[in-house]
Amino acid sequence: MTELATFAAPGDGRLTDDMLAAFQDDGVLILRGFADPAECGTLRDQALALVAREAPEQAENFFSTTSNVQLSDDYFVRSGSNISYFFEEDAFTASGALKQAKADSLNKMGHAMHDLDPAFQKFSRTPKLAALASSLGFEKPLLVQSMYIFKPPAIGGEVICHQDSTYLYTEPESCVGFWFAIDDADLENGCMHFLPGAHKGPLRSLNHRNEDGKLVTDIIDPTPLPEHLAAPACARRGDLVIFHGRSPHMSAVNQSDRPRHAYTLHMIDGASVWPAENWLQRPADLPFRGFD
Ligand code: FE2
Repeated sequence: MTELATFAAPGDGRLTDDMLAAFQDDGVLILRGFADPAECGTLRDQALALVAREAPEQAENFFSTTSNVQLSDDYFVRSGSNISYFFEEDAFTASGALKQAKADSLNKMGHAMHDLDPAFQKFSRTPKLAALASSLGFEKPLLVQSMYIFKPPAIGGEVICHQDSTYLYTEPESCVGFWFAIDDADLENGCMHFLPGAHKGPLRSLNHRNEDGKLVTDIIDPTPLPEHLAAPACARRGDLVIFHGRSPHMSAVNQSDRPRHAYTLHMIDGASVWPAENWLQRPADLPFRGFD
């Protein structure tokens, strides 16, 4: 099985030449111990506190990870500027009630915690991450999206193979994903998988608003990807996986009795153009920000 390039995290966050070369070759890089496990625990506590206080008991919104379709476009689009809650498809009984506790029913929350919640803001805007962004070549790094992924036991669903630049597109493309393990992630609880090197291929599809304001996904290149070559990104709490916006990735269902929490941040370069057709648009009073 292919092994993904893995290094001990640099203390100051700056990638070494070897790390940069591996990222350029593979489009994905694992940094062991980038974040303090205690700070990951604090973030987890805050996520669960937000869920307990603010997530609805009865959801009109679920997130289909196999079709990448939301029940409600409006709820999804608004989530770019707030903290919204997306449930797993299998979280409800036929009558629409939750089968189990909220935290064990959610797929994710998103997409602006890094700008709206002090604990998420603190975790997301560290000098270490700013140094990492700079060493990756970002001229003007902007944090555009945050997601807290719950991947609950038993019902934490499959996420089909996709590229994140499909949803966070810039001209020229500049999206990079930062995936922090909040819980240990392994083959049993649905760790991430990547296709190393496949970021050198084309962007396969592009999601955008059409003339009616509806979200649509255009297929650009239908050539199948060799998904059987995907390599697992097993991770311990505090490990960081960095991946190129064109790096195809996926995750399997959580077959364990353990959750698989993760925190994902997406960065673009403000030197690129953010099209008005992207799903994620911010109001004037909540612009994208970098590390300032
Ligand atoms: Fe993704």
